[in-house]
Amino acid sequence: MNRLVIKNLKKSFNNVWALKGLNLVLNPGEIFVLLGPNGAGKTTTLKLIAGLLHPTEGEIFIKGIDLQKNPIAAKSVIGYVPDEPFIYDKLTGREFINFVAGIYKIDRADYEHRLAELFTTFGVGSWIDEMSEGYSHGMKQRVIMCQLLLHDPDLILIDEPLVGLDPKTSKTVRELFLRLKENGKTLFISTHTLSFAQEVASKIGIIGAGELKFIGNIDELARISGKKDIEEIYLQLSEVDRDEKKITET
Ligand SMILES: Nc1ncnc2c1ncn2[C@@H]1O[C@H](COP(=O)(O)OP(=O)(O)OP(=O)(O)O)[C@@H](O)[C@H]1O
Ligand SMILES: [Mg+2]
Repeated sequence: MNRLVIKNLKKSFNNVWALKGLNLVLNPGEIFVLLGPNGAGKTTTLKLIAGLLHPTEGEIFIKGIDLQKNPIAAKSVIGYVPDEPFIYDKLTGREFINFVAGIYKIDRADYEHRLAELFTTFGVGSWIDEMSEGYSHGMKQRVIMCQLLLHDPDLILIDEPLVGLDPKTSKTVRELFLRLKENGKTLFISTHTLSFAQEVASKIGIIGAGELKFIGNIDELARISGKKDIEEIYLQLSEVDRDEKKITET
């Protein structure tokens, strides 16, 4: 069964379209990376799939469950990391994770062992028992990553996963994503880090002004753009509209 099906998804803010009719199907074991300039609609798309925004039009199905009609069931199989993750200042990382586990009604005995592994993977060390107000941005990101995987979500949505992570942690994150993919999870990631997209994506989408302009694996996008280097591919494909406009203007 398709893991994620998006049909004609539209979102407007104050009568301005932020997303203009997105169609997308993702399957188990895929990493979809969404690229596009600032304001293109990446965060809006992720928030719609996470159920944090209501679509103006269109439908979203997660493992066949209609997100609009059955939000609790649909959201229970999603893990979402926003672009600016929030942890209550006065909670320790561990308290925050326990709090989230409570929301998802996860049995504590089930996750203690897995959580200990995740703490080691992400090197959170003794920080986990410090109040999060003292965390660096990267440390917050690491704790959020541990929390993300706690309820074993099948569809993982991550907005800008690498911002603020040091090189070693960002390598850990890349390896983790590939491992999740091997385990049949589906990842939908928005980023500006092109090398990351090249390394992990099984499918890349390029969005501009609320419209998905291109979708394909790196080889397909290279063929369409006539370029080899990921940066050149991206610049060529993301600027198609601008070039067309130039042509009509002159
Ligand atoms: N709550 C909101 N109210 C009004 N307009 C919004 C709101 N959220 C997003 N927008 C608008 O929707 C458009 C898409 O924004 P979005 O945050 O999805 O872009 P993005 O691709 O994530 O950009 P970035 O790369 O900067 O993160 C922008 O024009 C933005 O100003
Ligand atoms: Mg964004």
